[in-house]
Amino acid sequence: MVSTSILPLQLDNVSFEVRGVRLIKDMSLSFPAGPRTAIIGPNGAGKSLFLRLCHGLLKPTSGVISWATTEDLNPSDAQAMVFQRPVMLRRSVAANIDYALKLRRIERSERIHRIDQVLGRAGLHRLKSQPARTLSFGEQQKLALARAWALKPQILFLDEPTASLDPAATHAVEEIIDAIHAEGAHIILTTHDLGQARRLSDEVIFLHRGRMLERTPSPEFFTQPRNDLAQAFVRGELLWWNLGKDNRKNKLKQSN
Ligand SMILES: Nc1ncnc2c1ncn2[C@@H]1O[C@H](COP(=O)(O)OP(=O)(O)O)[C@@H](O)[C@H]1O
Ligand SMILES: [Mg+2]
Repeated sequence: MVSTSILPLQLDNVSFEVRGVRLIKDMSLSFPAGPRTAIIGPNGAGKSLFLRLCHGLLKPTSGVISWATTEDLNPSDAQAMVFQRPVMLRRSVAANIDYALKLRRIERSERIHRIDQVLGRAGLHRLKSQPARTLSFGEQQKLALARAWALKPQILFLDEPTASLDPAATHAVEEIIDAIHAEGAHIILTTHDLGQARRLSDEVIFLHRGRMLERTPSPEFFTQPRNDLAQAFVRGELLWWNLGKDNRKNKLKQSN
C-alpha cells in the first residue's frame, strides 16, 4: 500500500565491514513511527555507524535497509541528522538554515517562513544575522537542531547531540528535541549519558561490539535490563567485562 509516511524503517540482516572487519553484525529490526529510541553502549560499540547506515550516509556491506513505499516522497527528503559536533557553513545563522532548505528545493517564501519559525522556537532569533561559526558550541548545536527542524523530518537521527555541552546547554537542546518530537518526528538518538537516555527515550537498544544485545522499553531497561552486559553497563561496570571472567570476579570481590 502506498502511504505518505516513510516509516517503518526496516533493517534486514544488515552488516557493515571495513577491510574485512565486521563492525556492524547482522542487525534485523524495524522502527515504526512513534516511540523514541535511545541507542546506548560503550565507546566503539557501533552506535554512530548504525545511525549513519540508517540515514544512508554509509551503505551496508550486506543486508537491506528499506523505508515504507511512498508515492510522492523520497525517503531521504523526509529525514534529518544532527551530529555530535555541529557542522556550520561560513555564513549567517539564517543562511545556514536557508542553505539546507534550498537543498530540499523548498521555495523562497516558505524558506523565509520556516527560518523565522525555527529560530524563534530554538531561542536563536537575536543571533539570526551573526556568522554561525562565531556562535558558542551550545548555540551552534541549537542551530544544528533548528536547521534539522526546519526540514520537517519524519525521522530525526541524533548522534550524541549533547556530548560536548554543559548542563544548561544540554537542557536547552533536550527541550528542542522534545519539541521536535511533539511535532511528530520520530527520534532515534545515541548517547552515552544514561540520564539523557532515560529522559528522552521510550525504548532502549543496547549495542555492544556491533551487535544488538537488547531492545527493551525504557522503564524496564533501566530497572532490569535482561542482558548481562547491559546490566553491567547500567551499573557502570562494563569495562570490567573486558578483563575476562576470572579478573572480573576478583574485581567484584574487591569492590564488595
Ligand atoms: N571508517 C572506519 N574504518 C574503520 N573502522 C571504523 C570506521 N568507522 C568506525 N570504525 C570502528 O567501528 C567501531 C564502531 O565505531 P562507532 O560507530 O563510531 O562507535 P560508537 O559511536 O559506538 O562509539 C569502532 O571500533 C571504530 O573504530
Ligand atoms: Mg559515536
